Amino acid sequence: MSDAEKPQTGSGPKKLHIKTYGCQMNVYDSERMAEAMGAEGYVLSDTPEGADMVLLNTCHIREKASEKLYSDLGRLKPLKLANPALKIGVAGCVAQAEGAEIQRRMPIVDIVVGSQAYHRLPAMARAADAGQRSLDTEFPAEDKFEHLPARPLQGRPAAFLTVQEGCDKFCAFCVVPYTRGAEVSRPVARILAEARALVARGAREITLLGQNVNAYHGVEDGADWGLARLVRALAKVEGLERIRYTTSHPNDMEADLIAAHGDEPKLMPYLHLPVQSGSDRILKAMNRKHTADDYLRLIEQIRAARPDILISGDFIVGFPGETDADFAATMALIEAVGYGMAYSFKYSPRPGTPAAGRTLVESGVADARLQALQALITRQQRAAQDAMVGRELGVLIERPGRVAGQWVGKSDYLHAVHLTDASLAPGMLVRARITEGWTNSLAGMRLI
Ligand code: SAH
Ligand code: SF4
Ligand code: F3S
Repeated sequence: MSDAEKPQTGSGPKKLHIKTYGCQMNVYDSERMAEAMGAEGYVLSDTPEGADMVLLNTCHIREKASEKLYSDLGRLKPLKLANPALKIGVAGCVAQAEGAEIQRRMPIVDIVVGSQAYHRLPAMARAADAGQRSLDTEFPAEDKFEHLPARPLQGRPAAFLTVQEGCDKFCAFCVVPYTRGAEVSRPVARILAEARALVARGAREITLLGQNVNAYHGVEDGADWGLARLVRALAKVEGLERIRYTTSHPNDMEADLIAAHGDEPKLMPYLHLPVQSGSDRILKAMNRKHTADDYLRLIEQIRAARPDILISGDFIVGFPGETDADFAATMALIEAVGYGMAYSFKYSPRPGTPAAGRTLVESGVADARLQALQALITRQQRAAQDAMVGRELGVLIERPGRVAGQWVGKSDYLHAVHLTDASLAPGMLVRARITEGWTNSLAGMRLI
């Protein structure tokens, strides 16, 4: 870019509003896009009103998630009419899946940028300034992150770091292999450098992200590194106190990673390990390539390495063909595992996926199953939280609470913990005694 094209400093910074839907990968991508646009002179704005550019970073995972894009675009229409210079961009998984269709349906959209093309966003924004609409949904050979600017100096105590993207598993219900592409792991050296940069700007906890993060296989000096080796290398980064990773697939949970849960103190005792169903028939129809028993034995091994580990999961109810007996098997699996937390969803057919054309379970039946499953999970979650009362845990302070002098942080087990102590500040890692458990958080007393 020539100097003449650079944003004029005299006119004040341009404002960018980003709305993020979906998973943590999108949260990470939004941050990186904000940084890329920051290099173009944009600052973040909390609202679309008064912004020069609005970016919707979308999710395609369920029908409801996709529909949000069009209702939000409808709401942006009056802003675009009032200010034709406003640039509207759609990024993320709906952009990837629907591409040009978005601009056909919604002419107010200037930019459609697929999930692997974010390094092209600044150029696309400049094109929009020149009155050109653009679309890029390629899966380029290069790593999109390497073409985005280095991360700036001010950051949060708990940061995300994408290490792997895409998925080769092709579960019959899921759009991710199509919207994020094939599994790609980022090189070890770049991840370590980014982790050090995050720590330098204040991060004390890093969550490694990937659609199948435990399928991570990066390269360092010609050698192949799995996730366990990466975790152990990160644990040596001075100033980094906590490491987490998400989301994992049961079939990629290798022995060395399980072992790391037992002997690497910086690896936090929390694991998100979705199973989706407890019925072998349904797991087969879902193309999960594991049985309920495989999963239960895996949980046993993980708990043998780290007995206090908190397990969370994802469940789909009402997958085509699911009978009462299949659903009962899912409930039995949940009883057997004892989850600390879980997300659960009613099956939503996604265009282009193998299960899309199959006969649906009656909607009312699926709703009733979802309700029963969620009631069980809520009971287990509550029990896990109650079991924390009286225990001494690490808490990483993240932000002020609603009441003066109150702070909110995350426990080792990822629970939100409220502490009242005026001397606390974001980034402090303290010990606390848990005094009370509520539905979604805990209260504690600072010890040191
Ligand atoms: N890679 C991760 C995340 C996948 S998306 C994983 O393998 O777990 C997050 C969750 O959304 C999935 O675990 C699944 O429970 C749910 N999900 C995915 N597709 C869905 C669909 N078509 N209908 C309902 N839930 C779905
Ligand atoms: Fe989707 Fe299955 Fe891949 Fe997870 S493992 S992203 S559910 S296809
Ligand atoms: Fe959604 Fe894409 Fe994430 S579909 S869940 S934003 S990978």
